[in-house]
Amino acid sequence: MNNRQSVYSFITATILISVPVVSGAQQPHIVFVLGDDFGWYDVGYHRSEISTPHLDKLSAGGVRLENYYVQPLCTPSRNQLMTGRYQIHTGMQHQIIWPCQPYCVPLEEKLLPQLMKEAGYATHMVGKWHLGMYKKDCLPTRRGFDSYFGYLTGSEDYYTHVRCNPITALNLTRCVLDLREGEEVATGYKGHYSTELFSQRAISVIEKHDSNKPLFLYVALQAVHSPLQVPERYMAPYSFIKDPHRRLYAGMVSAMDEAVGNITLALQRGGLWDNTILVFSTDNGGQTLCGGSNWPLRGRKWSLWEGGIRGVGFVASPLLKQPGTISHELIHISDWLPTLVGLAGGSTNGTKPLDGFNMWDTISKGFASPRLELLHNIDPLYIDIAPCPGMQRRLTLAQVVNRGSAAKSGFNVSIHAAIRSSNWKLLTGYPGCDVWFPRPGHNSSESSPSKVDPLKSVMLFDIEKDPEERNEVSADFPKVVEYLLKRLEKHQKTALPINFPADDPRCDPGPTGAWGPWA
Ligand SMILES: *[C@@H]1O[C@H](CO)[C@@H](O)[C@H](O)[C@H]1NC(C)=O
Ligand SMILES: *[C@@H]1O[C@H](CO)[C@@H](O)[C@H](O)[C@H]1NC(C)=O
Ligand SMILES: *[C@@H]1O[C@H](CO)[C@@H](O)[C@H](O)[C@H]1NC(C)=O
Repeated sequence: MNNRQSVYSFITATILISVPVVSGAQQPHIVFVLGDDFGWYDVGYHRSEISTPHLDKLSAGGVRLENYYVQPLCTPSRNQLMTGRYQIHTGMQHQIIWPCQPYCVPLEEKLLPQLMKEAGYATHMVGKWHLGMYKKDCLPTRRGFDSYFGYLTGSEDYYTHVRCNPITALNLTRCVLDLREGEEVATGYKGHYSTELFSQRAISVIEKHDSNKPLFLYVALQAVHSPLQVPERYMAPYSFIKDPHRRLYAGMVSAMDEAVGNITLALQRGGLWDNTILVFSTDNGGQTLCGGSNWPLRGRKWSLWEGGIRGVGFVASPLLKQPGTISHELIHISDWLPTLVGLAGGSTNGTKPLDGFNMWDTISKGFASPRLELLHNIDPLYIDIAPCPGMQRRLTLAQVVNRGSAAKSGFNVSIHAAIRSSNWKLLTGYPGCDVWFPRPGHNSSESSPSKVDPLKSVMLFDIEKDPEERNEVSADFPKVVEYLLKRLEKHQKTALPINFPADDPRCDPGPTGAWGPWA
């Protein structure tokens, strides 16, 4: 082939490729960054003592979601993000997936990355999976991601990437690696702090990406889940914080903030930014036992109080029609699937019936949210495994049950459940740790009332007027209570039986193995 021919064949090839390129250019790149256990009070723009300049700046130029909800725990939020469906509809309404439990998000569920792939996207994931891995078919690479680098369980050491987990049937605790490149165990990253490791990997995905193809990148950071570990330099600005847990946590938040800044810079340098939609979300409320704070909200991670489920979230993008705004519209983590697939020009045909709504006009243009109701959860097996200050004085689970009002409803009000409808939120059963934890650096008498009412089995709050859940008003609004109990009853009829299998001792990877598929 002479030069002229090669030029022609180059041109022909370019023309041939440029057909999808043109349509591809209209499909935005989508980068979804999920923080872990990041509390409501822990972002700079909620007037925290922790500084998050990148999150503040990005969100100030984007849309801050201030009436945004997630689930109270890791697996459930990720499950709803990936399926667009409530936990009760996947049988995963109870807790998280522990490393030796033989289950995963049902394989019949079509996940977000599969839908993005069908819409023509390159799909990449970095970070925490936590949606089940007992068999290979459950892994991210088998569920729609072209590439994966990260860990499969819920938490581990930030430097060694080792996860310790008891295997009761064998009477031992196994501490082994949990880090994978695709489906292979990834050794050689010992000593690399995961917030930096994962943001570097996300950047390398961005740098290698052919910008003519739309990108879907899901970065599920380890930050800022326990264990509390951070390189010294991130903690240095926080010597004024006396509580050592809080000081470490603040450093971890700073590292996460820097990671988001670095990822954004890579998108800008790579020329992708002008056509990118970046979503930042936490997966659940902060864990007060590990440095997090949801002040002034009540409760924390693992509870259905606002502190467990009202999430930090925002969208940053040059494509927003009303940048620099704050949204007070009701939005939920299950809404991302229809929203992002809609932006991709894809189809949700092929999913099971969705509980999420397409929120793009709400986020971008400030339209009213199509979501009128939000089922927070119904979990008949709920237990709180972490100590909650003063709880023994206020109740035992049995006391809650005994206080069950004789509501004329088919819904068993001893069950842990919560539902939101416009301004109203109804909680039944024991919602989890109910404390108003004090603002970090301030003493408890300032924000906790001296007397806390005992919990009732049916509680109603006007969340718009009373986001701190201080005034329980079920006695004043019996019609609202009745209506919401009916709604819970109706939802419960659509629930799948809970899938929460016993540990399978075959999960044991042996002393030198790695956590991963065994079945
Ligand atoms: C479990 O292991 C511990 C220490 O390794 C040992 O002391 C104990 O007897 C074992 N228990 C059973 C039931 O085997
Ligand atoms: C962000 O990028 C800078 C410069 O490359 C690097 O030194 C830093 O470690 C990065 N931070 C994170 C959290 O990845
Ligand atoms: C939806 O999926 C079905 C079955 O896969 C297919 O027959 C139908 O054409 C699809 N509809 C749309 C609008 O894509």
